[in-house]
Amino acid sequence: MDRFHISGPTPLIGRVCASGAKNAALPALAASLLTDEPVTLYRVPRVRDLRTMRRLLDCLGVGSEEREVRGPEGNADPQRPADASPADPKRPESPVTRPETALVLQRTRPSASTDAPYELVKTMRASVLVLGPLLARYGFARVSLPGGCAIGVRPIDQHLKGLAALGADVKLAGGYVETRASRLTGARFRFDLPTVTGTENLLLAACLARGTTVLENCAREPEVADLARLLNAMGARISGAGGDTVVVDGVDGLGGAAHRVIPDRIEGGTYLIGAAITGGDVLLEQANAADLAPLLDKLAEVGVEIEVSPAGIRARAPAGDGSLRARDVATAPHPGFPTDLQAQYMALMTRATGTSTIRETVFENRFQHAPELARMGARVHVDGSSARVDGPTELTGAAVMATDLRASACLVLAGVAAAGTTVVHRIYHLDRGYEGMELKLQGLGAHVARVAESMAT
Ligand code: EPZ
Repeated sequence: MDRFHISGPTPLIGRVCASGAKNAALPALAASLLTDEPVTLYRVPRVRDLRTMRRLLDCLGVGSEEREVRGPEGNADPQRPADASPADPKRPESPVTRPETALVLQRTRPSASTDAPYELVKTMRASVLVLGPLLARYGFARVSLPGGCAIGVRPIDQHLKGLAALGADVKLAGGYVETRASRLTGARFRFDLPTVTGTENLLLAACLARGTTVLENCAREPEVADLARLLNAMGARISGAGGDTVVVDGVDGLGGAAHRVIPDRIEGGTYLIGAAITGGDVLLEQANAADLAPLLDKLAEVGVEIEVSPAGIRARAPAGDGSLRARDVATAPHPGFPTDLQAQYMALMTRATGTSTIRETVFENRFQHAPELARMGARVHVDGSSARVDGPTELTGAAVMATDLRASACLVLAGVAAAGTTVVHRIYHLDRGYEGMELKLQGLGAHVARVAESMAT
């Protein structure tokens, strides 16, 4: 298990490029189950969760190959498969310098397996995204139940309720969900609460249903709208994605398509918060300011100078210690403040003058980074779904433990801002969703090194 050794404090200064969005690429890969034709995806991040999804799809009969992008149109050159060796997180290829690649997904076996095994699903909850497309395409899907995770119970009842509303027979047996339907039928379905992958699963399923499906109280995350763009390029007829009511007119079949995945607003937001917490100045390139609006508005409130231009999004910390203002925040489904930036925001609030309250309304157990920040000297008091942060605090380096993907990003940012050496353990959490983070941080001037367990003294 790798760890990061970080010495600080160091202001993050310079340019950094947003990678493609993990949470948009995952459902996009699952969409390849809906057709026998090739689906070509550009800007798929080289992170562990995408490798897991590729392995799952391979089990289900869909192969994937990275190809270098060639020519002005940026076509995937079938003659030039990219370096096939899976990126080794211990020696990540700089996401800044590596040639652009496209991921080409294509069914390799006529007979589809419709069984998503526990071994794969237990490592990544998003595996549940194969349920809708398998059921819609093959009339049967058996997927291991994802089980709970570090940040919450995370049931999939809304996914199952939605598929049942489209006429699926749903059974739970032996830790698996079994769904069956000769052909799904369009219907009106209202989610009890906005769920991102729940909305995506229903979109993937409703595409091939007979008739029209109307989904209400949908998740409005940009990743949902990006999936609808891909599906429409494949021949689906979806309207209203990104809003809370989505209409899907079912079609009899879908073709292949080429699609560029949206930039990762959570990864990008992490670097902008990094600029603020370290007293730095960062230009985030290739990001979508509209998708990041909830964060940009909050950073401006806190006193960070935000500038959006064709070059990108620039975040410049206010000059002088103690000039960051403490501001409360409550997480909420998009366009509210993203729960996936809550931990990084808490790290920022430790450096702000005053008391801030952070309310986590999406997941019931997402403050595990708080005691780790306290090891670095932060004054954080957690009380149920709220955390009170008193600042400003001079963070000091310490050994800390990552517990989940976004908590690890929070601790890495705190480490760059802290005086002395911080060792962040269990970096495998980070590798699930951040492409070459230590290289991007080094590019911004940080002193961060990945150390393999065996190398560590
Ligand atoms: C997606 O998870 C993201 N993952 C998460 O990002 C993100 O935190 C979350 O949306 C919220 O924005 C992917 O897109 C792969 P939800 P998802 O269903 O879809 C409850 C990261 O760090 N719920 O929108 O699983 C659920 O328990 C990850 O990249 C039900 O009760 O989240 C939660 O409290 C972490 N029943 C709330 O809804 C259901 O059937 C929102 O969850 C489904 C969800």
